[in-house]
Amino acid sequence: MKADSEMNAEKPSKAANSTTAQPSTKAAGRGLEYRIALAFGFMSFIPILLLVWAMLNQIDLSVVIILVAFSAFVGYFLIARRMVKSVLTIVDSARAVTSGEKPKTVELTDQNELGELARVFNRITHDLEHKVEELESSRQLVKRLLSRIGTAIVSYEGIDQILSLILENAAGALDAQLGSLLLVDGEKQELYVKMSWSRDGVSSAPGYRPKLGEGVVGWVSREGKPMRSTAKPENLGFTAGSGGEGAVLCVPLKLREHSLGVIAVLRERADKTFTEDDESLLGSLSSQVAVAIENYRLNLDMERTYVETIMALAIAVEAKDPYSAGHSKRVGFYAMHIGKQLGLDAETQRILNDSGVLHDVGKIGIKDEILLKTSALSPEEAKIMQQHAVIGQAIVKPVRSLHKVGDLVHYHHEKFDGSGYPAALKGEQIPLGARILCVADSWDAMVTDRPYRKRLPIEHAKEELRKLAGKQYDPQVVTAFLRFIEEREANKASHSESSLAGNDPSSDIST
Ligand SMILES: [Fe+2]
Repeated sequence: MKADSEMNAEKPSKAANSTTAQPSTKAAGRGLEYRIALAFGFMSFIPILLLVWAMLNQIDLSVVIILVAFSAFVGYFLIARRMVKSVLTIVDSARAVTSGEKPKTVELTDQNELGELARVFNRITHDLEHKVEELESSRQLVKRLLSRIGTAIVSYEGIDQILSLILENAAGALDAQLGSLLLVDGEKQELYVKMSWSRDGVSSAPGYRPKLGEGVVGWVSREGKPMRSTAKPENLGFTAGSGGEGAVLCVPLKLREHSLGVIAVLRERADKTFTEDDESLLGSLSSQVAVAIENYRLNLDMERTYVETIMALAIAVEAKDPYSAGHSKRVGFYAMHIGKQLGLDAETQRILNDSGVLHDVGKIGIKDEILLKTSALSPEEAKIMQQHAVIGQAIVKPVRSLHKVGDLVHYHHEKFDGSGYPAALKGEQIPLGARILCVADSWDAMVTDRPYRKRLPIEHAKEELRKLAGKQYDPQVVTAFLRFIEEREANKASHSESSLAGNDPSSDIST
């Protein structure tokens, strides 16, 4: 494809050379006007000569007519036919272009106006072909970009992943070596680097925070207008000395005239300036990015409100029963520490804490006469009560940030030997987090007063856990929990109680 276009590219230049030779063509007297005059001569002047010659020599009129017709035919055949053929060739090529066929070069070597017309036509079709190729290439680029962005949205893991993908692909598409996405810190009236991409692994400068109006990125953000200029990599938030001045294109991230930040891309070579088309492409993309960022922020606010509502529900459930006050918070605390003992990462520990706080939120859907009943539940009532695990999952799971919490809430009453509910899962079929919750929940129930019994002494409760390890509880979870309790007891013995006060929800119970 490229070779073709390069070959074709030579033709117009030859044509252009021929164009410059036009005055000499005219001087040689071989222009279209000359040819028409010649044809006119054959078709009118020569018949007159023939008539004169026939009259002088008393030649038969029919012979004269034949000779006149013959000379007209020769005139057409030698001159007019060639002109008509040239015009038809150009017309055919023009028709082919308008019907969407690939333009063909018109092969006319005439050194006259028709030849010049053919060369101009070739130049136009070549330019057209070049533009079509450019458009096709842009179309493919946009298609690839949309496809990649689409894939990222399907496997959506967060706004950062999408922004990173957009930045990388936009910079790559624009043949840039560096790209940055900076957001506005409204409080400080500064920009900070949200995302950066480098083709050659140039690292971003930590703490780069230009003021609004400062440098290219600051100016674009404050003015809300795109800019094509030159800048050094450090002006886009990359480490100082990572390159010389290059060509930069910076567009604002604007939403309803409100500046959210900028996207900037940089080419290493300052002479490889960005075009208006490049600016337009990045501008379109930036509008979408601005909408995505705003939606993400709105969703985050909405989700935060929903999480707060669920947390309030969990507290409301506890408030119904004075015996369970603080229970959920303590279960979260224990679950988090069991996770820590088992070497689970910080994110999983956070999930365990949230799961503990929310594990019984589904009780909001259970009637008070069952929920607050102090005597033993009938089999029907017990069945209704068991629904709280399923209801709890239904409340929690729609929240993206609590998605994993939903499963743990669902299975927190499953038992290691398969005798639990609601799914009677067994052993490792039960999610580890749910096995942890089960131990934490049971422990807190054992060591606190209940309407139907007094709290168990700590040693008795420990013994109970050991006894039921492998039956009701996962043995490794029991071991981890007992280790936590023992470490805590040792810690209490060597430090003052106040060291845990304030952030230890279990401080109201004795271990
Ligand atoms: Fe429960």
